[in-house]
Amino acid sequence: MLKFQDSEKAHHRSLFYLKKLSSFSVSRFALSTLYQNKQDLPVELFGHTFKHPFGLAAGMDKKAEGLLGWQAIGLSFAEIGGVTMLEQQGNPKPRMFRSDKHKALINRMGFNNPGSEKVSQTLDLHFKKYGTPKIPVWVNLGKSKLTDNSDAHIDYSTTMDRLWEYGDLFVINVSSPNTPNLRDLQNQGDLSKIIASCMAINEKNSKTHLCPSKPILVKVAPDMSLAQLEMIVKTAIDSGCSGIVATNTTVSRVEPVNGKEAKTMAETGGMSGLPLVDTSTEFIRMIYKITDGKFPIVGVGGIMNAEHAWQKITAGASLLQGYSAFVFQGPSISKDIVKGLAKKLREHKLTSIKQAIGLDHRGDD
Ligand SMILES: Cc1cc2nc3c(=O)[nH]c(=O)nc-3n(C[C@H](O)[C@H](O)[C@H](O)COP(=O)(O)O)c2cc1C
Repeated sequence: MLKFQDSEKAHHRSLFYLKKLSSFSVSRFALSTLYQNKQDLPVELFGHTFKHPFGLAAGMDKKAEGLLGWQAIGLSFAEIGGVTMLEQQGNPKPRMFRSDKHKALINRMGFNNPGSEKVSQTLDLHFKKYGTPKIPVWVNLGKSKLTDNSDAHIDYSTTMDRLWEYGDLFVINVSSPNTPNLRDLQNQGDLSKIIASCMAINEKNSKTHLCPSKPILVKVAPDMSLAQLEMIVKTAIDSGCSGIVATNTTVSRVEPVNGKEAKTMAETGGMSGLPLVDTSTEFIRMIYKITDGKFPIVGVGGIMNAEHAWQKITAGASLLQGYSAFVFQGPSISKDIVKGLAKKLREHKLTSIKQAIGLDHRGDD
């Protein structure tokens, strides 16, 4: 039924029900019985053991209000945000559009979120009421629209500072197409300044809280040349980051098949979903090649089934994320993917996901 509603309203409704259902232990149990896969496909990475490779991509839970729900429906980790230093409304509505024909979404949300202070309060309350979440919580760091690009490092690192206690990993997002000039920050100078600023906050908090520093990843856009990608990956490695998330939404479009689709495709914003699947897999393949498979990659973009998930893992991704699949396939997506990946491992006579990561490259030597 949610398919027939305005995309953003459907999104809010789904989150509302997930939040409600997961706040009672009985319905939480029902959710996990329905949607959690029995099988484990563990991945050791970033100082954690992930139950399996599939987690929630950024943008779905901007307010960090669904943590119990994401765990209940079987995700192995959840990325909250994008959170920006300042609270912001985002772009005027409507700003999210669905193409059912192409299984694609176009959004120009513009980092609508409660801001780092409020999200920190939400997480604090959650941790006090329910304890530390049972799945790793990742935080997607965005930049406030009001902050000039020259001060971007302050915006990113302030958010990181406010959320440091609650996040297990932080993703620097300089790749959303919906904040004016944000993607300009994907150059070496600005990016290293932002990472250095976040690293300093990381070290400070690690000392204060007497615990190890947290992994910092950079999320890249799929709309760039190989040379630019190489520069970003090199900058991330040289600045001490722990991995790359590939990819964010694309500004490219698919050929519309009818008038309604043409209208959707003409909307400005970033496109996600099925049309992105091959591009993002090729980005993963390129990053794996550039880094000789030595720099962890989180694969995201168009994963709708286990076949797509397998393609991204064998191209070089260690972990995976999805957003659009929840809209088009519903909450059973995680279960389906894990089941399908287990089958793929059996077919290839492999015993762990680790053995499958970058498998496509093994014959290259
Ligand atoms: C409505 C919407 C909002 C998003 N917001 C963010 C965001 O705040 N930060 C971010 O890094 N990515 C954001 N994304 C991108 C997703 O995390 C993901 O990279 C992209 O949608 C591709 O994955 P998918 O094809 O599985 O949806 C958003 C995507 C959508 C559809």
